[in-house]
Amino acid sequence: MRYRILGKSGLRVSEISLGTMTFGEDWGWGASKEDSRKQFDTFATAGGNFIDTADIYTNGTSEQYVGDFVRSDREHFVVATKYANAHPGMAPHHANSAGNHRKKMVESLNASLKRMKLDYIDLYWVHIWDGITPVEETMRALDDMIRAGKILYVGVSDWPAWTIARANAIAELRGWSEFIAMQIEYSLIERTPEQELIPLARATDIGVTTWSPLGAGALTGKYTRGDRAREGRIAQQEYQRLTDRVIRIAKVVDEVADELGVSSAQVALAWQLQTGEFIPIVGATKVSQIKDNLKATELTIPSELMDKLNEASRFELGFPQKFITNDFVANLRHAGLVDQIEPHRPDAGFTFSQR
Ligand SMILES: NC(=O)c1ccc[n+]([C@@H]2O[C@H](COP(=O)([O-])OP(=O)(O)OC[C@H]3O[C@@H](n4cnc5c(N)ncnc54)[C@H](OP(=O)(O)O)[C@@H]3O)[C@@H](O)[C@H]2O)c1
Repeated sequence: MRYRILGKSGLRVSEISLGTMTFGEDWGWGASKEDSRKQFDTFATAGGNFIDTADIYTNGTSEQYVGDFVRSDREHFVVATKYANAHPGMAPHHANSAGNHRKKMVESLNASLKRMKLDYIDLYWVHIWDGITPVEETMRALDDMIRAGKILYVGVSDWPAWTIARANAIAELRGWSEFIAMQIEYSLIERTPEQELIPLARATDIGVTTWSPLGAGALTGKYTRGDRAREGRIAQQEYQRLTDRVIRIAKVVDEVADELGVSSAQVALAWQLQTGEFIPIVGATKVSQIKDNLKATELTIPSELMDKLNEASRFELGFPQKFITNDFVANLRHAGLVDQIEPHRPDAGFTFSQR
């Protein structure tokens, strides 16, 4: 396991984060406490220190398990949890039980600390944008939580790029803590963050952690290789995820895996790990899956097979990136200036940053 510095901070986190949305059986497809413990120990023994949970996961059971598992070696782990959502399985339900506002933040954070029996959280995520609360309120309240010693760093999950840019700019100017990391859905079947969110992260040094890097199981071969389709969470709960496009991409992942003699899950993870830009938050329902997924850190996909994966997962860039690529970059090329820009992911089109 290697470690990465998380965004504009000094915090060292393992190159894979352990997703714990599957810790607890309250949602119908998770793991028992004993199996969750085995997953956790497998990850920790491999050197993993970065643990992702949320107040709502498995109605609070995930946080309880994570607290129990880290407590005896608390300093070693970077524990991240989230607030902002309400969940039908969890009380209380009232006008303020969801949102990015100060009241929800303070109450959720106190409840998380109590549930986990911990004194502080290392990284506190705002789980999802509420579209209502002024960012000044959220950023100032997060900063207050840091000053109170309850959290050490703040991150942002599932917010539009422009809101993150605005929040961090305001925080920087006012001397408040900025978001050091973002959490986005990103995988071979969901590359649209390459349009706005990933360029923002590159430009302003925000660490990028990615959820559902295996497409919640769609990229593991179990829905494409025939005999294992009934096993997974998607087959039970989210069958609509398996569109023709998803199956087509998953089959290319299988082809690359067969060529390299590794599992499909390892290919899907190595595709984003080997760029050095992303920290996948990997979930599992079984210890064998964690063991399989950890091997992705040792895999290097040769460039021609990376091209094949990138080509299969190509998506249409929207406005303005597509227009800029076609028009402005062509103008730069005509003017002989194109060498001054460096394409990060040429396959995605216009996702370059200035040198
Ligand atoms: N911020 C957010 O809004 C947000 C949203 C979602 C998740 N998350 C975080 O991201 C984490 C990961 O999300 P996810 O569970 O959707 O991600 P994922 O890693 O794409 O999918 C994990 C699922 O894939 C299957 N799987 C994993 N490894 C496998 C392997 N080697 N072989 C075969 N099947 C395998 C397992 O499900 P089956 O056995 O059931 O097939 C497992 O539960 C969560 O735990 C959570 O911490 C955050």
